[in-house]
Amino acid sequence: MNPIQLFDPVSCTYTYVLFDETSREALIIDPVDEQLERDLGVLRQYGLKLSWAVETHAHADHITSARLLAEHAGAKIAAPSGCGITTAAVQLKDGDSLSFGREQMRVLHTPGHTAGSMSYVWQPAATGADAAPGNTGPGHVFTGDTLLINGCGRTDFQSGSAADLYRSLTQVLLALPGDTVVWPGHDYAGKTQSTIQAEKSGNARVAGKSLEEFIRIMASLNLPKPKRIDEAVPANLSSGQRQDAGAPASASPATDAGGVRAAPGYAGDVSPQLAWQWVSAGQAVLLDVRSDAEREWVGFVPGAVALAWKQWPGMVMNAGFDDALKAAVPAGQKAVLLCRSGVRSIAAAKRATELGLQAYNILEGFEGDPNTEAHRGHKGGWRFHGLPWRQN
Ligand SMILES: [Fe+2]
Repeated sequence: MNPIQLFDPVSCTYTYVLFDETSREALIIDPVDEQLERDLGVLRQYGLKLSWAVETHAHADHITSARLLAEHAGAKIAAPSGCGITTAAVQLKDGDSLSFGREQMRVLHTPGHTAGSMSYVWQPAATGADAAPGNTGPGHVFTGDTLLINGCGRTDFQSGSAADLYRSLTQVLLALPGDTVVWPGHDYAGKTQSTIQAEKSGNARVAGKSLEEFIRIMASLNLPKPKRIDEAVPANLSSGQRQDAGAPASASPATDAGGVRAAPGYAGDVSPQLAWQWVSAGQAVLLDVRSDAEREWVGFVPGAVALAWKQWPGMVMNAGFDDALKAAVPAGQKAVLLCRSGVRSIAAAKRATELGLQAYNILEGFEGDPNTEAHRGHKGGWRFHGLPWRQN
């Protein structure tokens, strides 16, 4: 069984999805933020539940979607312990393994491109007719920017070291069984996979080269600085940018008379419970201002009006917001606005007020703020309070 290989043409990055054929639990390696919709589509298409979003290192050429995948698809984030990716719930060390269903992926520390860089080995579990022990086909190794097809990652920035990379290549990766399939983090020439044997005998940088020759080759590359390094590395140290920009919403409940807390620019903040009370009594229309992807992946409130404030990709403003809002709320009704954590719904409530509506922001949103593992749903919010919602 092969991994699903996905390609981002802008950064030439390969992303991989591995899964357990029985439980459908999955793991994604090096996801790219611009490809979030594509990756969620792949999970949907194969019927997968994403257990892990894993990085090979802190990338300099693209921004990861790990945090978005944690939020949208419930993945846990795992990253090499030496990369300073503090938002990862699991800090991987050499020899660790990650489980997804019956499948396991083993962690190899392969420093050189960066000091923390890791590679991952996956030997798929035997299934069905192949279930005899030892009859599982070749293993797979995901080499990030350590070993590329007929090449290797650069070592001239981000704590890189040509001597470390030489050791990682010759003593760790090229020491794997020769039939192991090599899945690189990038390819700039359209190649998709190789084998350890092919790289051992033919890799132009390292095959047959001494440490001194390798260091000389790496020192003479004179590569330009990666275009996005100044933006990408800081973002990747926190598992990628947040989707809903802005400060986290206050999780404190509304306390003043009638349960409404005064707020500048709109009618006020209300708790999810009070909003639902109004909706149930026919006094208010519930407007869900999250994106289509969030509703689909995280769940939705039956009967709520789907009215995105911003949409993926890129969280661009919904040009049809005003007209759809006016059409959705009859005269004399309140508008109560729900987003993920109560940030976007403030902006949307202000806009609704400008349009003449009596608009309230629902504190804590559908899922509340993220906890220390970047998972939502445990710190307040519509679902947390047991109000009605559905997944599909
Ligand atoms: Fe890299």
